[in-house]
Amino acid sequence: MPKFQAPRGTRDLLPRERAVFLHLEEAARDLAVRYGYAPIETPMFEGAEVYERGVGEVTDVVEKELFRVQAGRGDSERERWALRPEPTAGITRAYLQHGMRTWPQPVKLSMTGPMFRYDRPQAGRYRQFWQFDVEAIGDAGPAIDAEIIELAVAFFASVGLADVGVLVNSIGDATCRPAYVEALAGHFREHAAELPELERARLETNPLRLLDSKAEPMQPLIESAPTITEHLCGECRTHFDGLLSHLEALAIEPRISATLVRGLDYYTRTAFEFYRAGAEGQQQALGGGGRYDGLVESLGGQPTPGIGFGIGLDRVVLALADQDATPLSEPWKPVVVVVGADPEDTIVRLQLATELRGAGLACRPDLTSRRLGKQIDGAARAGAHFAVICGDELDAGNVQVRDLMAGTQRPVDVTELARDLTRAHTQHRHGEEG
Ligand code: HAM
Repeated sequence: MPKFQAPRGTRDLLPRERAVFLHLEEAARDLAVRYGYAPIETPMFEGAEVYERGVGEVTDVVEKELFRVQAGRGDSERERWALRPEPTAGITRAYLQHGMRTWPQPVKLSMTGPMFRYDRPQAGRYRQFWQFDVEAIGDAGPAIDAEIIELAVAFFASVGLADVGVLVNSIGDATCRPAYVEALAGHFREHAAELPELERARLETNPLRLLDSKAEPMQPLIESAPTITEHLCGECRTHFDGLLSHLEALAIEPRISATLVRGLDYYTRTAFEFYRAGAEGQQQALGGGGRYDGLVESLGGQPTPGIGFGIGLDRVVLALADQDATPLSEPWKPVVVVVGADPEDTIVRLQLATELRGAGLACRPDLTSRRLGKQIDGAARAGAHFAVICGDELDAGNVQVRDLMAGTQRPVDVTELARDLTRAHTQHRHGEEG
């Protein structure tokens, strides 16, 4: 085994897998733009306080999973940084820093990129993973809540993932949640002796978190806990009903889940998650999100409503593989390889390849001094359709074109080469569809 390996919980995306990710990112960008979500990119690390205040200090993401960054020795700034575990807090920081409050509202933004969580690695749970994220800041909903959920559903459909279910809940707001949290704390206090250590500590700091505890002994206690649904205030109830009627109008049939509370502290009212049908209980959400009407304020801004989602692209890739629907395309495979018998003719090979690329063909020259036969074998192994063979005939303005798939060969005038190859490639893709 080589001495150096990718860090635990991370992996290299080799060309085929990277191509699938690129395909998903492209589908994400295409949809986001069509829905009016503009692209944004924020740094991959922020002052740790952005996450402590934004995501919440008593959450798994901050308490256990934050990658804190140690600056180099001799660093004078002495700031505390952390790699981004999720994009919403950073985007909200950017919203405030750039005065987006004065932009036309709501401000709709989208991002795809890697996130970092120091989690226990397992299938579908990595320390570096990719998200497609959208945020709409400045609209109190509930119609936009439905639009956001519908956008996620459209994404899953557009990449060919069938049977994605939507779970929704309302987790209340500052008016009704405190009384619910009290009731919840009361319930768990009655069972304090049965609680694992972390949960017992959280009972005093953030009882809501106990509802998404993964610990085995917690499961029956979570099932018998009071639900937020019974405690919603009138406005939250109306908002939730509004969301459900808008979803119905968009032909989306969510399942209401009273225990869905999400793992981040900034949520208010609408919360939702996406699962493959039949995999709802498995801690393997394909994505999730919700409303965060208090987040802008908690990072120092004016009260401003917001909502968004994050879709885990790694999990989408796994789900596609699971249903044998991985899009397979290898656009870096050459259509043409330019080869030559004379080791001194690399200039000609380069020039011809440049010309063919200029005409839109995926082309690479073989620049080695291998024997011609080896070069042609190499072109075939690389999956090329044609080998263009430069030889003595070039003096008369001709090259030989070998169709590597059909096993035929013919001379072609160099001035006609690009047009000829383009036509031949589109007309005759041996063994390929289309
Ligand atoms: P989240 O539920 O923490 O929400 O993450 C969103 C999605 O990212 C998850 O549903 C999952 O698919 C994926 N994910 C999370 N952790 C991992 C991991 N360790 N390995 C692989 N995939 C993972 C958020 O991050 C919120 N910022 C979503 C949001 C946007 N809410 C409002 N706006």
